[in-house]
Amino acid sequence: MIDLPHSPAADRNKEPILAQLTEILGERGTALEIASGTGQHAVWFAASLRGWTWQPSDVDPQMLPAIAGRVARSGLSNVLPPQQLDVTAHRWPFTQKFDAIFCANMLHIAPWAVCVGLMAGAARHLAPGGMLITYGPYFEKDVPPAPSNLAFDESLRARDSTWGIRELDDVVGEARRNGLALAQRHPMPANNLLLVFVVS
Ligand SMILES: C[S@@+](CC[C@H](N)C(=O)[O-])C[C@H]1O[C@@H](n2cnc3c(N)ncnc32)[C@H](O)[C@@H]1O
Repeated sequence: MIDLPHSPAADRNKEPILAQLTEILGERGTALEIASGTGQHAVWFAASLRGWTWQPSDVDPQMLPAIAGRVARSGLSNVLPPQQLDVTAHRWPFTQKFDAIFCANMLHIAPWAVCVGLMAGAARHLAPGGMLITYGPYFEKDVPPAPSNLAFDESLRARDSTWGIRELDDVVGEARRNGLALAQRHPMPANNLLLVFVVS
C-alpha cells in the first residue's frame, strides 16, 4: 500500500473535534472542508457523520491525490472528490451553498489575506442557517497566552513573517464585515479553540 502524507496533530485532535461537530451539526447536510491537508479529518468526520456529504478541498494540488487516496481506502460514499480551492479566489469552484463550512489550522499558517478570503467566501457559500466552523489557536484579549502558543507563534513568524497566531478580535471583526457573527466558542485541548460563526 502506498504511504499517504500523515499529520500526527490531525490524529490527536480529530476525536475532540468530532465530539464537538456531533453536538453542533444537525443529522444531515452538506459540508465544505477548507484546507483539508492530508484528508485525515475528512474521512474521520464523514465516517461518523453519515447523514452529511463532505466536500474536501485544499489550495495545494499535491494534497488532492492524498485526500482522494484516503477516501478511496475508507470506502466512504459520503465524501466527494477533493477540489482545489484557494480561499482568496474571488470565485470558489462551487455553484451550491453549504450547510457547514469547516476549516482547521489554516488561519495561522497563511497570510492575513487568507482570513479575509475565508470570511468573504464563507458568506457567499453558506446556505441560510449555515455555519462556519474554525479550529485552531488564537490569541484573546484578556486571556493570558499559553506559553506553548507564544512559542508556536514565534516559530511560525520565523518561518514566514506573514504567518502567525491570529487575534480572535481581528478574526471576529473580519467575519462581522462579511455578515457573520461569532455564535459559539469552545475551548479545545492543547490551547486551541473551536469557533462557530453564523450568518447574522
Ligand atoms: C496545517 S495544514 C492543516 C490541514 C488540516 N486542516 C489539519 O488540520 O490537519 C494547513 C493547510 O492550509 C492550506 N492552505 C493554505 N493556504 C490556503 C488557501 N489560501 N486556501 C485554501 N487552503 C489553504 C494548506 O495547503 C494546508 O493544507
